[in-house]
Order: sequence, then structure tokens, then C-alpha cells
Amino acid sequence: MKNNIGVIGLSVMGKNLAFNFADNGYKVSIFNRTIAVVDTVKREYAGENIYPTYSLKEFVGSLEKPRRVFIMVKSGQPVDSMIQQLLDYVEEGDIIIDGGNSYFKDTTRRTKELSERGINFIGAGISGGEEGARFGPAIMPGGKKEAYDYVSEMFERISAKAYGEPCCRYISENGAGHYVKMVHNGIEYADMQLISEAYWILKNLGGMDNKEMQEVFKAWNKSELESYLIEITSNILGEKDGDDYLLDKILDKASQKGTGKWTNLEAINLGVDISVITSALNARFMSNLKDERKIGEKLFGESLGIYNGQFKSIDTSTIDRELLVRLVKNSLYISKIVAYAQGFKLLLSAQKEYGWKLNFSEIAKIFRGGCIIRAKFLNDISDAFLKDGDIDNLIFTDIFSEEIRERMDDFRDLMSRVVALGIPANAMNSALGYIYSYSNGNSSANLIQAQRDYFGAHTFERIDKEGVYHNEWNNEN
Ligand code: 6PG
Repeated sequence: MKNNIGVIGLSVMGKNLAFNFADNGYKVSIFNRTIAVVDTVKREYAGENIYPTYSLKEFVGSLEKPRRVFIMVKSGQPVDSMIQQLLDYVEEGDIIIDGGNSYFKDTTRRTKELSERGINFIGAGISGGEEGARFGPAIMPGGKKEAYDYVSEMFERISAKAYGEPCCRYISENGAGHYVKMVHNGIEYADMQLISEAYWILKNLGGMDNKEMQEVFKAWNKSELESYLIEITSNILGEKDGDDYLLDKILDKASQKGTGKWTNLEAINLGVDISVITSALNARFMSNLKDERKIGEKLFGESLGIYNGQFKSIDTSTIDRELLVRLVKNSLYISKIVAYAQGFKLLLSAQKEYGWKLNFSEIAKIFRGGCIIRAKFLNDISDAFLKDGDIDNLIFTDIFSEEIRERMDDFRDLMSRVVALGIPANAMNSALGYIYSYSNGNSSANLIQAQRDYFGAHTFERIDKEGVYHNEWNNEN
């Protein structure tokens, strides 16, 4: 009797996915480059259904046809190298699935190369970290629909469920699944940064301690802000390290593995403004300049009343905390709407650019469970796209335009305070600027066009008549 699926690459994500398949009744062959790991992983799984193999030949030979081979190795060259090795053993009609955070253009290339050899390739974005992989991730599979049909039942069974529905749906051709996962990660960066700014404002402008902020986040998690990231933030705020809070001991330098950078590069390529996601990425870059920030504090801090990283100019005892919490909550919510709207806007451009057919309502549904950006308001996003599939921007939908209008005064109030006090909240400010840019049919770009025409004869259009014009500008004016 052959096994139903095979997993190659048994680091924590691969191992947990193998166990997840096994829990769901599938017989799983496992293989790892470092062979010793195979037996360790086998021993770790209490039940049956996990079958160790010790060579690629044995691994592939142990699978029922068409074979389903799930690769969970480091993205980039290791994926190509593994595919190359597998080609000695797999046959026409077999399906190779890459579940890593692969770059979507690599996935598109691999899909094409493998299809020329009759092998089906699925690039599946998988989100949810270790816990998700083990007990239910969100899965974003891209590739040929016929190939997906061979794995759909298995994938949907192991995926997270949200409101009774699997957080796994076919996305579109070739690299579309990994693209959606990339955008998920861009939104993840923005969401994390916005929450961090909210925390920083409550702490520095509100003078709140970690316990108090934990209560605020707990309450927010029962509101329209309900989400995984808000939930873990409240847990993080409460975590002790001896008598102190662990958070206060963690160095303020944030790392990254690259998917946020890809999202931004892609947005620039397609000419899409994803300013909140960009600000989040920049904040990570800036966070790593700890030593330079200290030099900057010596030069500029005094004028802002900042000494040793503390905002001495702020008298937190005079702050109306209840009001502040409301302002921050409403600002965070609008900013979050903008971040997700920008992510979906990028997807909208991508589908035109790459010829994909994306179902935005369904993508929002996938994001509702298992993944890092899961949030209650994704139900509204899904509904909004369902109601108005052709909308240019999520912020134009009835539900979200109304939610933004209701909170806008609070958002402007808070941003004017933090700007005046020197509290950096660049992602929130970007969200505000995005709405401002969208709030006026006129802009200053007439001057840009005039400048371009002045120095480069790049021409301009006019508002009073049709056509393309160039002016002989008068240097003497
Ligand atoms: C997920 C996460 C996952 C991983 C990120 C972290 O959806 O499960 O996004 O893919 O945690 O790669 O990214 P950074 O290291 O770039 O923050």
C-alpha cells in the first residue's frame, strides 16, 4: 500500500505539516537531506501514518500515483536543487508542491519548466507559523487548476477553518499563490508596525504601564480590532521576566527575512502606492540604526524635550486617558483599513499585469483563519468585495468609507498631537496622508508637469482643452 503524500524538508514547518497531514488520516512519507532527522521526526509523532524514507528514490517510490511531493525547504536555490534531484524519479502527471516563502517569479519559472516535462507544480503560500502548520494554516495555492484538484481535498482538510470554511482556496495560475502570500506578509509588516506605534503612543503620551496597556489591548480584541496580532500583543505586554516585563528588556532592533521587501519592490514595479507597508519596512530599517539614533537624539532630542529616550516634555498626568485610548483605537483601525486596502490594491494591479483571475472576496476569506493577519474585519472585506467586485479601492466601499468618515476627526486629532510632540508614528501618518491624497480631486501635480515641461519639454495636458502641449517657458519671469 503506497502513501498519499510525501514531505521533504523536516525543519519545524515541514515536520508540523507532515504531522498535520498524518493527523488528518493521510499516510505521509517523510524525507530529509540530513538523514538522521528522519528517525527523530518519526519518533516524535505519537500516532501512525508517518513513514520514514532514507533516499529520494525510496521516498518517491513509496508514493501513490500521481505522486504528491511537498517540498518544505529554504526558498531560493535549495528549492531548485531539490526539484532537480526529484526529476530523476518523478514521472509525468506527478505533482510537486512548494510550500515555502518562495519568490513568485521563481514559482512562475518553475511552473513553466516543470510543465514542459509534464510535471505539475503548485506554489503554495502557507501562513500561520509553527502552530498553524501543525494544527491548521492558511494555504494559498497557485498553479494549474487541474493540478490543484489532485490536492484540494487534502489541503482543505489540513487548513485552518474560519466560520466553518477552510482557509484554503485555489488562487490562480503559476506564481499567484506565492504572490498572495507575499502581499499577506506586506500587510503583516504594516499591521505589526501600526500596533507598535499604538503601543508607543499609549506608553509615551498616555504614560501607561504594560499592565494597563495589556488591558487596553484585551478590550480592543473584543472590538472591531479583534485579530491575532492584537491578541498576541496583549499576551506579550503581560509577559514577565523575573520582576520585570520581558518586553522592556527586548532590544528595539527588528529583523526581517525579505518578503516585506519583495512586496515593496513589486509595488514600485507596478506603480502602486502602498505607503503604510513601505513605512513599516522603513521602520524596520531605521530600528537597526540604534547607534545612529543615539547620535540623532543628542543633536535633535533636546529641542523635542527628549532625554535618554524619554519624552520629558510630555506631562502624562494631564492626559485624559480615556480620550487618548479612543483616539488611538480609531487611528489604529483606520490605518489598518488603509494597510489592507493598499495590499488588495496591489493584488488588483497584479492580476492585470500577470493575467491572473483573483477572487478578492475569497482571498479575504482565506485570511480569516490560520494566518498571521487573521482579523475579524476580514469578514467585512470579503463582503465588501462580494458586493462590489469591481471597486477600485477598498476604502471606496460603503462599509469602509463610512467607518473611515466616522473616525477621521479622532485620527486627525491624534496625528496632530504626535507630530507636535515628536513621537514617530510614520505608518499611521502614511495612512492619514493616503486618505488626504484621496480626499481631493485636485493635487499639486500640475506644478510637477510644468517643471518637467520647463526643463525637459516633457509636455503636459490642460484642463481647459484637449491635447498635449509644450510651452516655451519664459526664463525672465
Ligand atoms: C506567516 C509568516 C511567516 C514568517 C515571516 C516572518 O505568514 O506565517 O509571515 O511567513 O513569520 O516570514 O517574516 P520576517 O522575518 O520578514 O518578519
